[in-house]
Amino acid sequence: MGKLVICDHPLIQHKLTFIRDVRTNTKEFREHVDEVATLMAYEITRDIPLETITVQTPVAETQSKVISGRMLGLIPILRAGLGMLEGVLKLLPAAKVGHVGLFRDPDTLLPVEYYIKLPTDVQERELIVIDPMLATGGSAIAAITALKKRGCTQIKMMNLIAAPEGVAAVQAAHPDVDIYVAALDDHLNEHGYIVPGLGDAGDRLYGTK
Ligand code: URA
Repeated sequence: MGKLVICDHPLIQHKLTFIRDVRTNTKEFREHVDEVATLMAYEITRDIPLETITVQTPVAETQSKVISGRMLGLIPILRAGLGMLEGVLKLLPAAKVGHVGLFRDPDTLLPVEYYIKLPTDVQERELIVIDPMLATGGSAIAAITALKKRGCTQIKMMNLIAAPEGVAAVQAAHPDVDIYVAALDDHLNEHGYIVPGLGDAGDRLYGTK
């Protein structure tokens, strides 16, 4: 079973409160999401392996650590995932970015892939799938399935807010995937919104409502 990590750093929790607040305008919402994404990137990379190299300081030669050449890939799910992308890239500027676009079929209610563009060496990379809201888990499961179909094996999930239903669904479908969230909320309502949540992440990021 993949682990669920709640990134409970005070800065993340503080900014998340403003993100939730209905009075927060589009500009502020986008800025807070960007900042939380950066802070979450710090948490999600905590287990990246290091190697020791020799470095000459102005005073002496010493052994010091650097990240051991791990190749990362960031996979925002369109469109709301884009709101967290730049924040993550601030800490991981060498990561390559793949995009996955999904829409919900109105008849089957299942996610349908309409766009996918991935780095050519995506199979060799450790991937972070990015989506602010993990609601039913349908999009997350479909995106991860699409990556695995293309040979990807090392996948983590990053969300601002998750519903217990979405976490359970992703853990059941993809037990190898660890999920990092800023908050685990109470439940999904009958419209598929996370309660208390933050509303529609895409609309609030892009001012489309
Ligand atoms: N997607 C959102 O943007 N918000 C929710 O609450 C659930 C899914």
